[in-house]
Amino acid sequence: MRVLVTGGCGFIGSHVARALVAAGHAVTNLDALTYASNPANVASIAAHPRYRFVEGNICDSALVRELVADVDVVINFAAETHVDRSLLDPGIFVRTDVEGVVSLLEAVRATRTARLVHMSTDEVFGSLAPGVEAEEEGQFAPTSPYSASKAAAELQVRAYAETYELPVTVLRSCNVYGPNQHIEKFIPLFITRALAGVPLPLYGDGLQEREWIHVDDIVAAVGLLLEHLPGAAGAHAIHIGSGERLPNRVVAEAICRLAGRDESLIQRVEDRPGHDRRYALNSRRLRSRGWRPAVRFEEGLERTVRWYAGNADAWAAAENPEFREYFARQYGERLGAV
Ligand code: DAU
Repeated sequence: MRVLVTGGCGFIGSHVARALVAAGHAVTNLDALTYASNPANVASIAAHPRYRFVEGNICDSALVRELVADVDVVINFAAETHVDRSLLDPGIFVRTDVEGVVSLLEAVRATRTARLVHMSTDEVFGSLAPGVEAEEEGQFAPTSPYSASKAAAELQVRAYAETYELPVTVLRSCNVYGPNQHIEKFIPLFITRALAGVPLPLYGDGLQEREWIHVDDIVAAVGLLLEHLPGAAGAHAIHIGSGERLPNRVVAEAICRLAGRDESLIQRVEDRPGHDRRYALNSRRLRSRGWRPAVRFEEGLERTVRWYAGNADAWAAAENPEFREYFARQYGERLGAV
């Protein structure tokens, strides 16, 4: 298959791009090289004959249309993804996560040959009450500028699928972790800070619950779904969830243990405004197709801590001036002078 992976220098996109090349597919990686991209994530396939890198933005309709015309499938991982940053600078989320998706939809509509697979999130459902799981056809109730943008993108996908009779697959994932994730996110931030022996800023009471999945399990799910893309018009939603739901505090404590640090490193700080308490996905649809998460959280977290411990150069490079500025803005007052 010829696949256009957007955001292929980012965390999930790079794992998928590498796996697709290894599985024999031809991959074009369109990436805007934002702060969250890291070309080193795809260094192992950079010279591969079935791999091509194009620097560009999914909002560039002319470029997108040209690239989409040459492929069988487009998988959209290009996005602004960090909730905290969406509180600091919401505009870029609307541009990339909504306008960028419309640009992809326009190209798919114009060419009519490529199928679109769009990566969305469990956050479109907002915070769920204890015991409740979001079903694929559940109601959207996003609460952050990030999740509102992702929900808006999904509405555009539905509108195009309906109006222009396009078969589109929408993947909604729970929280993903693993090697190469940008250090601004909870697990890599806490791991790298725990390894460095500096305080871990836990928002609020730390009892917010997230469902965690290892990136390898996302890659496996995408591989499986690519083999059975729907032919019928419509927006076909699929949930990718592990079922492993944990309060943040428990994850933070596990990270301290694995990094050989005392839990006193965990510091309660001012909460994220509008912080969703709980996400949970019902992933029966995907499981009915034979997929099961292969990496248990305990094992995956241990492997991830080992990866960050063994790749200090990779994440030290991510602690660039842009990150330091963001960190100061986000945590300065929360952590005081630390
Ligand atoms: O649920 C899927 C979503 O997971 C994806 O759609 C998003 O792109 C991804 O960023 C992630 O969103 P979260 O807001 O859940 O992830 P984050 O890593 O920012 O935070 C995870 C939890 O940890 C959340 O409850 C906030 C908390 N947290 C996070 C940071 C960065 C802290 O307590 N302290 C922190 O410093």
